[in-house]
Amino acid sequence: MAEKPGAITRKKFLKLTGAVAVSSLLPSIGANAQNSTMAGDLLHRPIHSTGEMIPAVGLGTASDGFGRQGSDAQYEQRRNAIAALFNNGGTVIDTSPTYRGAEAVVGRALEELGMRNRCFLATKTSIYGKQEGIRQNAESFEFLRTGTFDLLQVHNLKDTDDHLETLNALKEQGKIRYLGITHVRSRLNDEAVGFIERNRLDFIQCQYNMLDRSIENSVLPAAREHGVAVMVNVPFGRGRLFRAVSGEVVPEWANDFGADTWAKFFLKFILSHPDVTVAIPGTVNDYHVVDNMGAAKGRLPDDTERQRMIQFIRNL
Ligand SMILES: NC(=O)c1ccc[n+]([C@@H]2O[C@H](COP(=O)([O-])OP(=O)(O)OC[C@H]3O[C@@H](n4cnc5c(N)ncnc54)[C@H](OP(=O)(O)O)[C@@H]3O)[C@@H](O)[C@H]2O)c1
Repeated sequence: MAEKPGAITRKKFLKLTGAVAVSSLLPSIGANAQNSTMAGDLLHRPIHSTGEMIPAVGLGTASDGFGRQGSDAQYEQRRNAIAALFNNGGTVIDTSPTYRGAEAVVGRALEELGMRNRCFLATKTSIYGKQEGIRQNAESFEFLRTGTFDLLQVHNLKDTDDHLETLNALKEQGKIRYLGITHVRSRLNDEAVGFIERNRLDFIQCQYNMLDRSIENSVLPAAREHGVAVMVNVPFGRGRLFRAVSGEVVPEWANDFGADTWAKFFLKFILSHPDVTVAIPGTVNDYHVVDNMGAAKGRLPDDTERQRMIQFIRNL
């Protein structure tokens, strides 16, 4: 069969995922899964350091020019996406000073929608140098039009020790509620585990999806052991998963656990790992937000179904 554009072959899949080396069995029921609740009809999971529950799907803002505000129509589109999050029971938004204006879009939209108090707002320190980080944090408060962040994260492990000192001070001052670190590259998994072991983190944010499951044997067990909540970025491999299945129909058996779209298929796979707290798919489209939130509804695939999902993607 001719290869579809953007498709992945089994060989490419194994290379991408390191799937041969990674055990595909789930750990026995973790604290997350035990404490999961359905608030309304939406899956919520606990932040271990406090027990606070948050919806298991949120919104990322790095996606295709989220921060671009060239025209009123562009801004309206992004505000509609944020409104759709709240209208569908979501609260978690992840942004960064490096997402080209996204903080300003989110800040403006939250103010206009009157949703700051309902939002679990996460941003990042994304710069080298302790003083530069402090200056950048001050700008983020302004752009996001708020005096407190729910979560502030050191982005991509840049000057992590220095910035964690600042974040701990901000937490003591009550300016942030939770602190954490982020990365997106599997080669940084071991380094991230070191930070989890040496620090008191509330959150770790990193990549987990059907193309990259490397955290299953590194970050996730460490997060579980140290009671750190896990925020999953790049849940669609920055859209690569959609390109991989383009032209394919979602298999009928996935309807058994409510996955009637590819987005739900990919997100439900992630949420079915008991150590995942929340996934933050990026989109500028309100109808994609609605689709993505649907992954937090209904049941999640069990171990056998997860194996079937992995096999399905492998066989593409
Ligand atoms: N190091 C870090 O801290 C780090 C690194 C990367 C990402 N992140 C965070 O993680 C978030 C997610 O990552 P990402 O945005 O890069 O990639 P992603 O979520 O894996 O994929 C985003 C892509 O998926 C598409 N999409 C979203 N929902 C869809 C749906 N229901 N149906 C079809 N297509 C859909 C989006 O297009 P449309 O916009 O057209 O919907 C976009 O092209 C980011 O936005 C950011 O907040 C953090």
